[in-house]
Amino acid sequence: MSAGAVGYAKENAGRFLEELKTLLRIPSVSTTPEHKGDVEKAAQWVAAELKRIGMENVEVIRATDSERGGHPLVYADWLHAAGKPTVLCYAHYDVQPPDPLEEWVSPPFEPTERNGNLYARGAVDDKGQLVLQLKALESLMKKDGKLPINVRVIYEGEEEVGGERIAAFVREHPDRLKADFALISDTEMFAPELPTLCVGLRGMIYTELEVRGAKTDLHSGMYGGAAPNPFVALAQILAGLKDRDGKILIPGFYDDVAKPSADELKAWKALPFDEEEYREKEVGATKLVGEPGYSAIERTWARPTLDVHGIVGGFTGAGAKTVIPAKATAKVSMRLVPDMTPEKAFRLYRDYVEKIKPEGVTVEIRLIHQGEPIVIGTDNPYVKAATKALKKVWGKDTVFIRSGGSIPIVGDFERFLKIPSVMMGFGLPDDGLHAPNEKFHIANFHRGIESLIEFLDEVGSL
Ligand code: BES
Ligand code: MN
Ligand code: MN
Repeated sequence: MSAGAVGYAKENAGRFLEELKTLLRIPSVSTTPEHKGDVEKAAQWVAAELKRIGMENVEVIRATDSERGGHPLVYADWLHAAGKPTVLCYAHYDVQPPDPLEEWVSPPFEPTERNGNLYARGAVDDKGQLVLQLKALESLMKKDGKLPINVRVIYEGEEEVGGERIAAFVREHPDRLKADFALISDTEMFAPELPTLCVGLRGMIYTELEVRGAKTDLHSGMYGGAAPNPFVALAQILAGLKDRDGKILIPGFYDDVAKPSADELKAWKALPFDEEEYREKEVGATKLVGEPGYSAIERTWARPTLDVHGIVGGFTGAGAKTVIPAKATAKVSMRLVPDMTPEKAFRLYRDYVEKIKPEGVTVEIRLIHQGEPIVIGTDNPYVKAATKALKKVWGKDTVFIRSGGSIPIVGDFERFLKIPSVMMGFGLPDDGLHAPNEKFHIANFHRGIESLIEFLDEVGSL
């Protein structure tokens, strides 16, 4: 049956890519208030496509009081495959900000094809992968007049800022998302041509650490030496959070870290991975850093970490200004692994900062968003169907990997909906997620659609 749908996808490959470009032209940056209307536009585009391909009960679910600038969810379903399993399809249509703009070879919101890739912000994270689902559903629907299994779709427009709205929706309306498993299209392949399922994600807490000294900005000559400097205090606090080996110094931080199983570690060792090549080609730094005794794979998949994303405040204009700023702020996040919890990590971090902060300053720590870490089981029929489908399309056995990234809602699907997730993604390691010149390898776009068609079909014949 899937032969027809795959054929349809092949015949329509050109149009499918053009339609992805239409979505990519909408700058749906979820974190910037100026783009709120664009995020709405993207939601409407996605909803219209779902309707066009024959999905039912299509709904753009907006925040009731649009409180705190939440972005809409898009829901749809098709539930006419009596006796067949139900899949909950997930992806996100929001994107990260495109800056630094001057680094882009072609503009971020003018999708451009170059050497077999499609370049645009959101190309692979995650509009391209959302469109994989739309096109797989369209191909099945158009060719067979029906879908092989029951389908619910839930897309969010604020994954990149923590996914608060979808988390609330999952807690409040688990009945509307009732399914047997979730299909998450928002991850990567371990290497080109290597079919991959992701089975673990790190959780995170994202915080702002604000240090205040004097009650107002002061002349640094008149007061320098007597007034506390919040930037120096902030630097001292930040330097106290991690040692030179990359070990986090917050007492108790590692207490709940679960070790990967011996089988997992063995499987990771067998992956085609060259640390030196990763250092040079992907990272592009003179040396990799991190905890001694752990490989780069373990450091990024199975160990927690702490990073500083930016330091804000003070004088940053051209030239010089002799000022002791009143406050300094840093954006600090921690990635968490099983069995850590965001609540405990936040408490330990806050208490420790209070303890190590220098005299003369006050510190306020704000939690911006949080998400639980997750490792999912692979012993279920949906994972088996997935590996079978991937073998058909890519001709190879699937590798199981974890990822250092986070998709906050995946943990909630397991905890609140009590369903397993299949994280089948088609990004490549050098796709540049969140970076300038993000791309989607066009061959992966088409084979991704084919893979999803085969997968849904495989589940239909379970
Ligand atoms: N799709 C990514 C997460 C990801 C990246 C999974 C690579 C697997 C491989 C997602 O859009 C993302 O970037 N998430 C944020 C989450 C955060 C803002 C809550 C992240 O990981 O920084
Ligand atoms: Mn994503
Ligand atoms: Mn992302």
